[in-house]
Amino acid sequence: MDEQLQEYILGHIDPEPPHLRQLARDVNVYLLYPRMCSGHLQGRILGMLTHMIAPLNVLELGTYAGYSALSIAEALGPDARLHTIEIDDEMEDFILQRFAQSPAGSKISLHIGDARDILPGLGDIVWDMVFIDANKRCYCEYYEMILPHVRPGGYILADNTLWDGKVVDPAHNHDAQSRGIMAFNDLVAADDRVEKVILPLRDGLTIIRKKN
Ligand SMILES: C[S@@+](CC[C@H](N)C(=O)[O-])C[C@H]1O[C@@H](n2cnc3c(N)ncnc32)[C@H](O)[C@@H]1O
Repeated sequence: MDEQLQEYILGHIDPEPPHLRQLARDVNVYLLYPRMCSGHLQGRILGMLTHMIAPLNVLELGTYAGYSALSIAEALGPDARLHTIEIDDEMEDFILQRFAQSPAGSKISLHIGDARDILPGLGDIVWDMVFIDANKRCYCEYYEMILPHVRPGGYILADNTLWDGKVVDPAHNHDAQSRGIMAFNDLVAADDRVEKVILPLRDGLTIIRKKN
């Protein structure tokens, strides 16, 4: 997005809470791949969607530094809980420290491991809302594992579903991540079990509602 427009938007939405601003700074100073971190706009969007859905049980695949997890958790009601899964065990201390320093951190359970191994152990939980933001190559697999455990009327949000526009760029979409995202978009588009819409936000955010 045009930088001026981006600044304008950030100046006309709720400000970034100080602990999340600090987290975003720490990501840029201490971590590789800071682009993976949700920022001010995406965090406020996730918080707003969480308020709208009012979920009790939320699942996130791909914690990274915990920015999206905290943005979701701060919008949860008093009895609600977020389970977030991160495969990179080197992130564990960084994430847990930030959760401990944040007002909503106590509403989050962090699971370290491959989501595909962790998910069966969480099988009894019925999800009201799921945020898929892990390995782009595996979105189809995550989706098929998760959908049976989403309550009818519940939501799956999938991030990066336009993948920098590569989904419509045959010159640059032959890599495994692009193919993973394109296969996921095709799968969801053809799936009668769900309603779906792609928001052209940032890198694309698909909102999927499991039919009643
Ligand atoms: C885009 S980042 C997540 C960003 C974070 N949700 C946010 O918005 O701030 C993707 C993360 O998924 C993790 N990941 C990749 N494959 C995974 C898997 N199979 N299970 C769990 N986490 C995975 C990566 O290590 C990385 O930290």
